[in-house]
Amino acid sequence: MNKFARIIGTGSYLPPNVVTNDDLSKTIDTTDEWITTRTGIKQRHVVSNESTCDLAEKASIKALEMAGIDVSELDLIILATTTPDKIFPATATMLQKAIGASCPAFDLQSVCAGFIFALTTAEQYIKTGAAKNVLVVGSETMSRIVDWNDRSTAILFGDGAGAVVLSGSEETGILHSKLFSDGTYLSSLQVNNNFINETGFIEMAGNEVFKIAVNRLSELAEETLNEVGMSSEELDWMVPHQANIRIISSVAKRIKTPMDKVIVTLENHGNTSAASIPLALDTAVRDGRIKKGDNLLMEGIGGGFSWGSVLVQF
Ligand code: UT7
Repeated sequence: MNKFARIIGTGSYLPPNVVTNDDLSKTIDTTDEWITTRTGIKQRHVVSNESTCDLAEKASIKALEMAGIDVSELDLIILATTTPDKIFPATATMLQKAIGASCPAFDLQSVCAGFIFALTTAEQYIKTGAAKNVLVVGSETMSRIVDWNDRSTAILFGDGAGAVVLSGSEETGILHSKLFSDGTYLSSLQVNNNFINETGFIEMAGNEVFKIAVNRLSELAEETLNEVGMSSEELDWMVPHQANIRIISSVAKRIKTPMDKVIVTLENHGNTSAASIPLALDTAVRDGRIKKGDNLLMEGIGGGFSWGSVLVQF
């Protein structure tokens, strides 16, 4: 049995090709001003030939390097993705081969809440003693399921990957986690194919999703702090899913957290679904904002709907 699951390494990767708001305004009826004001997004990274596994590999290598453990010490790989490279085998097994690991590896699908679901699952393996070191990855090539002619969704999404190494420890790590799903909203945010062998693209009732995201995530943030017995002043950083700056700021306001304690990276990469929280986390760890011992609230919501939070002492 391990007392806590601690994050001992983070990594992230964005593909080099950048599509700015101005680039998009040349092909669809939109403007940089509209996208910036309504979402906070300025640009997104889009793969050329790279796969979801390629992005995951680059982020994972960085996380393993920071953790200072050898790949042979991994007991499990959980890859959260909405955009696996194939229906099967699992992209996690492709990643296992790419980084030279030999442990069990599986994909987890919970769209934009995927990283939170994967981190919570990994924590259970660690706390029961079934695993010591787990590689938890969020990797997405959302550009492959975006309808680039649909201005209501094409402006939002991007590609990227983030990873953490979670490890059993006597020192504090994850303090609390909470997961929810509600299948009544299946068609509010979905890929619009009927069967797995048909091509489909993201469609979203943006307004409805926006309101539900603000309400669910605000309630969740309040509940999480209450259940841990932590005041918002004791919270060092919110590391939210990067979907829309207006959603993020509404949730921060609800828990009385100033925006200078919120990690926001969406202007650089848009909504990268399961990759967005570990991308934001890694950015702030590497630029020195997040330090050992800081209390972090991570939370996200996505299609399903599924949503959840993880409160961690870093
Ligand atoms: O990650 C999981 C969850 N996903 C989200 O959290 C996304 C949640 N939703 C949102 O972020 C927002 O709803 C959007 C950014 C998608 C849309 O923003 P909004 O403020 O809710 O705009 P709206 O859909 O109410 O549209 C307002 C107007 C409409 O025009 P009219 O009817 O007022 O004339 C739209 O047709 O803006 C128009 N519009 C656009 N105009 C320029 C919609 N998309 C665009 C666009 N450029 N790209």
